[in-house]
Amino acid sequence: MHARITGTGSYLPPTALTNNDLVARGVDTSDEWIVERTGIRCRHIADAGQQASDLALAASLNAIGTAGISAEKIDLIILATSTPDYIFPSTACLLQSKLGISGAAAFDIQAVCSGFAYALTMAEKFIQSGSHRCALVVGTEVFSRILDWNDRGTCVLFGDGAGAVILEASEEPGILASALHADGSQHGILEVPGNICGGKVVGQPFVKMDGPAVFKFAVKVLAEVAQEVLDRAGMSAAAIDWLIPHQANIRIIQSTAKKLGLPMGRVVTTVDRHGNTSAASIPLALDAAVRDGRIKRGDTLMLEGVGGGFTWGAVLLKF
Ligand code: UT7
Repeated sequence: MHARITGTGSYLPPTALTNNDLVARGVDTSDEWIVERTGIRCRHIADAGQQASDLALAASLNAIGTAGISAEKIDLIILATSTPDYIFPSTACLLQSKLGISGAAAFDIQAVCSGFAYALTMAEKFIQSGSHRCALVVGTEVFSRILDWNDRGTCVLFGDGAGAVILEASEEPGILASALHADGSQHGILEVPGNICGGKVVGQPFVKMDGPAVFKFAVKVLAEVAQEVLDRAGMSAAAIDWLIPHQANIRIIQSTAKKLGLPMGRVVTTVDRHGNTSAASIPLALDAAVRDGRIKRGDTLMLEGVGGGFTWGAVLLKF
């Protein structure tokens, strides 16, 4: 049994924040610096009343619509987020309720910016085992809620959004190969080292990052994991029609493409207009390129992510 994506969807909150808007708000930065060092020009920010599950709902309804299924068919919901609505229940359960369905298994996974690669890989394992047939896989984030707007090294990088796919049991492939990894000893280079205890915030509930260390780590593991997955599938990089990497920094994306020998014309990039939306960035980019007609049925796609933990992973699939 194979697992195949039958629908994609995404959602961006309506409020867009440009680099110059950040400067106008008093962030000690410039449009020139952000564009040159990251490729980011704009990001979307959720309204105060919008939670991760609301963004997820809009993206999921899009994906359900393009798959042409009814929500009742979904028997598994895996949702990746680092910015859940609550401590519990899971955002996946809140999404299930907002979709008006019940009975399907539903849970969140936490792998930060690799979350979607982790969630998609996990959903495929459920389908391959025969236990489930129709999964809703979501990446959703309101990262703006965990940014320190006085830290120019992080606050200019991130945005909010959600992306979703429907993954169904199929006779045709489908996901061809995948790989997931983590190295917890590297947790300190990208973390939100805070918690709630006795009703009080303990630690620092804001993103803390050693940018250059993360940059070096990302460039290394993204090239490695893409090659690992190609080897598992017995394919070469030349077979990839579209690379859809996590959207953190255009320089990381360019370096990964170069190492794989892929021209930038075969790489989907949304970092300029979405910023880094963590677990949402890959499905947002996937949906953008499906909707504008670049990605077609039968194309070979490489999805890959890297993020806090440290975690990283890649999924090679026939769309
Ligand atoms: O989702 C996965 C996690 N995220 C990533 O993958 C991000 C990985 N890292 C990066 O993308 C880059 O390291 C950054 C974009 C975060 C930083 O770029 P960089 O080229 O590594 O800059 P840097 O941190 O080495 O800082 C260079 C200079 C410093 O000034 P001095 O010390 O040279 O005077 C910083 O203070 O740039 C300064 N700087 C800024 N200047 C204007 C740092 N942030 C800003 C800013 N605006 N926003």
